[in-house]
Amino acid sequence: MLPTPSSPPVAVVLAAGRGTRMKSATSKVLFPVLGVPIVQRVVDAARAAGCVDVVVVVGHGAESVQAALSGVVFAVQDGMPGTGGAVAAARGAVDFTGRTVLVLPGDVPLMQGATLEALLEDHEAQGSAITVATMRVPNPTGYGRIVRNGDEGPVLRIVEHRDASDHERRIDEVNTSIYAFDGDFLFGSDGGGAIGQLSPENAQKEYLLTDVVGIAVSAGERVGASVIEDSLETAGINDRAQLADLEATLRGRINSGWLRAGVSMDDPSTVRIEEAVKLSRDVHLGAGVELRGQTSVGEGASVGKGSVLDDCAIGQGARVGAYVLATRASLRPGAVVRPFSVLQGINEKMPARSVDADRVQLGEGAIVGPFTHLRQASVLDEGAKVGNFVELKKTHLHAGAKANHLAYLGDATVGARSNIGAGVITCNYDGFSKHRTTIGEDAFIGTDSHLVAPIKVGDRAYVGTGTTVTKNVPAGSLAIGRARQSNKDGYADRLRSSLQRKAEIAKEQAARAGDGGE
Ligand code: UD1
Ligand code: MG
Repeated sequence: MLPTPSSPPVAVVLAAGRGTRMKSATSKVLFPVLGVPIVQRVVDAARAAGCVDVVVVVGHGAESVQAALSGVVFAVQDGMPGTGGAVAAARGAVDFTGRTVLVLPGDVPLMQGATLEALLEDHEAQGSAITVATMRVPNPTGYGRIVRNGDEGPVLRIVEHRDASDHERRIDEVNTSIYAFDGDFLFGSDGGGAIGQLSPENAQKEYLLTDVVGIAVSAGERVGASVIEDSLETAGINDRAQLADLEATLRGRINSGWLRAGVSMDDPSTVRIEEAVKLSRDVHLGAGVELRGQTSVGEGASVGKGSVLDDCAIGQGARVGAYVLATRASLRPGAVVRPFSVLQGINEKMPARSVDADRVQLGEGAIVGPFTHLRQASVLDEGAKVGNFVELKKTHLHAGAKANHLAYLGDATVGARSNIGAGVITCNYDGFSKHRTTIGEDAFIGTDSHLVAPIKVGDRAYVGTGTTVTKNVPAGSLAIGRARQSNKDGYADRLRSSLQRKAEIAKEQAARAGDGGE
């Protein structure tokens, strides 16, 4: 029996394969399952199982895999092909001496930290050189078979499907590709180790990690096996059909959990809720709703049919209508977003650098939509209202302020209770820089006015309809800047008869020209 290691286990994630069966320019391990790339899930599970060091072996599509992961050590597989070659590439990436090595396939997305932890505990308690995680499957085609001494006896070796005899192919206990190894056995403190004894003499002409099991048995080392019961945890992704099936099963499980926890869904089979989402009781979700990232929905709130919310915080009793797309929006209790609105609380130039100040924020009882576009750093205080075909960017509407129809407000502050008429535009950009518009409290901006920034409109000021405001408007004043109207009595009627006469003459001339031509 081997001594129990004193330092924490280290994980080696195999992510160098070609992923041929995905038929994609993107590396297989980067395909997302419910929003999180497969390999990221594997790394997270390894960490949850207590692995402080995680080595990720990359090869095909190495750069994109390296760019997608952080806080791990990379090893590059460029020599020996096969899963054994991948593990060999990890040698020297960290110090494996005296440690347990958890080897994980990079294409099995739903393995759970707790299951891996139990595997590690079992491995260390037994003092084994290898503990293989196995599973029983109805159709073992393609998998490596676990060959035991008798049905229930100790594991003798693993034989890959392509190398298996007809008799071996009938074995339904298969290799999950999840293993715990004794680090010294695997890599050898002298640089040899079992991994150095692999040879590519098999149907695939590759160095197969599975052969290490036979090597251990021949050397008289102890090999354990532990069966993982939940087939979702061990399901590997080799093609897009498997990916879609797995995601559907996972979605179903998540939705059932929320239904049991007091969430209503009109059509659960169409609802997609990512794992990090938090819901409260009496939340109601329409058909086709997608809740992504760190979204939370408070008690009694509803999200209408077809809406997609990403990193949103929906307060208690808030209502999001149908077909709303919202990213990084926060709704206080009782806020309402009506259908077909788009809320984007992101840094538009560099979305990855978005900060809290970029979020869209709706205060208590604020009302938005239908057909409203709230962009970066749009803030509506309590009871503020923004209606159809209004676009806001970096604009703050204080309590009770309104912009009910057809307006663009950019880089603006609108004081409490002020009213923005239809067609009002802040001219905030001069082609080079952005400038601010500041409107005080209880102001009234008449329909179709232009506010040429930088500009200030004082408290209680009134801007007459159709005014182009280029000078600051003092508090309590009226700004009006349009040509005076004059009426000409009877002119329209005279104009209409003269135009009609001209049209008739032209028609007659055309008819005569036509006769002459025949
Ligand atoms: C492997 C196992 C098989 C097991 C099955 C479970 C071997 C030889 N076979 O087969 O016993 O039943 O998993 O899903 O190990 N990889 C590399 N470098 C390579 C080849 C593969 O890093 O040269 C990585 C892949 O990116 C993948 C993982 O290793 O993440 C498994 O490789 P894959 O080709 O999918 O092996 P399977 O055919 O599934
Ligand atoms: Mg595989």
